[in-house]
Amino acid sequence: MRSHSTAQSQGAVIHPLFARAKQTHARSGTSATVLSFPAPEIRVPPYLLTHYWWAYVHPKAVKLFERQWLVNLILWGNYERLRNAALAEMEGSIGGRSLQIACVYGDLTSRLSARIAGRGGLIDVVDVLPIQLRNLREKLPKNAPVRLLAMDSTNLKLPDASYDQALAFFLLHEQPGHYRERTLSELFRVVKPGGKIIVVDYARPRWWHPLRYIWRPLLATLEPFALDLWRDEIGKWLPRSGATCLDRVTFFGGLYQKVVITR
Ligand SMILES: C[S@@+](CC[C@H](N)C(=O)[O-])C[C@H]1O[C@@H](n2cnc3c(N)ncnc32)[C@H](O)[C@@H]1O
Repeated sequence: MRSHSTAQSQGAVIHPLFARAKQTHARSGTSATVLSFPAPEIRVPPYLLTHYWWAYVHPKAVKLFERQWLVNLILWGNYERLRNAALAEMEGSIGGRSLQIACVYGDLTSRLSARIAGRGGLIDVVDVLPIQLRNLREKLPKNAPVRLLAMDSTNLKLPDASYDQALAFFLLHEQPGHYRERTLSELFRVVKPGGKIIVVDYARPRWWHPLRYIWRPLLATLEPFALDLWRDEIGKWLPRSGATCLDRVTFFGGLYQKVVITR
């Protein structure tokens, strides 16, 4: 997908936002956290306002959910395991340029940024909610090599082929199908050929898993698009011309999956 208006040719045209953030980064040294809200046209997607106001949008929600034990509970005790699986997968390109699509409660990004800082890399974290980016900034050390960018995952104002790897941690299950497709298409556009797109998210638990029966109605009520990932493989939403390699591992009786797509 090379049709993005701000990035016509493989990284040659840099969107002003990207350039501005880069300058700010340079001014403050290569390892300073930069928070950037320059896109007045950014619009919160309706699915977030309708279905996830209680988890991410409302200030009280952020206060409540920014507790690792609580997120761990929601993930049935699997937060650390899934976080570590994502971090281990990113280790190979940790000295390069990484992208995290969407903030995550708990210490995933702090740990990622500490590893990246130790190896001279950079990470950009994109989220459509400024409140989430501010919350993340508070969790990071002042000199973390992180840029926090207010953008929609379906419309990244970032140049083509500019990242060595990208992570989407429990984002895709929240998005309706066409948003999910668009997010993956944008990740394909911004990750370099040969780079990895790492997805950690829900999957369909095996037939014997008790949560297959208990969790299903709850998920269907609270997270109406999550069951898409029970029904179909991630490959369904990938761009046609996309992956050269797709590697899938499941966790906790199949309820979670890590999918690594090599661009
Ligand atoms: C990554 S997901 C869920 C993570 C996981 N449940 C946790 O926090 O442990 C939640 C984040 O996705 C962000 N988000 C949802 N839709 C988005 C979109 N279209 N573009 C960018 N960020 C988005 C929300 O604002 C929120 O901060």
